[in-house]
Amino acid sequence: MGRRRARFSDEELARVLVELTGPIDWALLFGNDNPVELDVGCGKGLFLVRAASERPEVNFLGIDWSGRYARASAERVLKAGVERNVRVTRADARFLLAECIPSSSVQAVHVYFPDPWWKKRHKKRRLFTPEFVAQVVRVLEPGGKLHVATDVAEYAEVIFTLLDETDALRRLPPPTPHEPTHDLDYLTHFERKYRKEGRPIFRGSYERIG
Ligand SMILES: C[S@@+](CC[C@H](N)C(=O)[O-])C[C@H]1O[C@@H](n2cnc3c(N)ncnc32)[C@H](O)[C@@H]1O
Repeated sequence: MGRRRARFSDEELARVLVELTGPIDWALLFGNDNPVELDVGCGKGLFLVRAASERPEVNFLGIDWSGRYARASAERVLKAGVERNVRVTRADARFLLAECIPSSSVQAVHVYFPDPWWKKRHKKRRLFTPEFVAQVVRVLEPGGKLHVATDVAEYAEVIFTLLDETDALRRLPPPTPHEPTHDLDYLTHFERKYRKEGRPIFRGSYERIG
């Protein structure tokens, strides 16, 4: 069996897929001073592509620790032709936020369908911990937003309790789900999957205050 031909060359992919190891200079990364939003656990990149084409005046960084998904996102970005305002990096978001993202430099953080890590011994891998929330607060500019969605009721309870108890965050009315008009007209791939299955989805938005 022959190997599938790569759709994009490494050179093309490198325009989107970047390695970030130290403090990020957003203007250098994107070539402009536009505001920045993060998609934490970007998966296959549906949110990135839609958001970047709907809001070309905003820069988006997708973060996923899976090399396969980071690459899939970068390919989707190139295919959609929105590489001007999107970068994707393969990284543990907990490391990237703590070590690479400057304080008060981001206008929104999106975390859609974070892995629930069901098994008790795996729960420590969950993204939403007090340490992660503290980093989200640190990187958000005052007035910046955090948007979260999950289909897991128990994890939603943990997440929203943690966020409600964070003094630097104020809960906003939850966003109204968009009614899809075609098969890819969803917030993310997981939103698409779960809405089609009729599962309840728990959504929350917060604003960084102070
Ligand atoms: C359930 S998927 C959701 C993907 C996408 N947000 C969506 O809604 O379609 C969770 C994604 O988060 C990524 N992920 C989980 N923990 C991560 C971490 N600590 N840092 C970066 N990515 C992470 C996984 O590789 C996976 O792609």
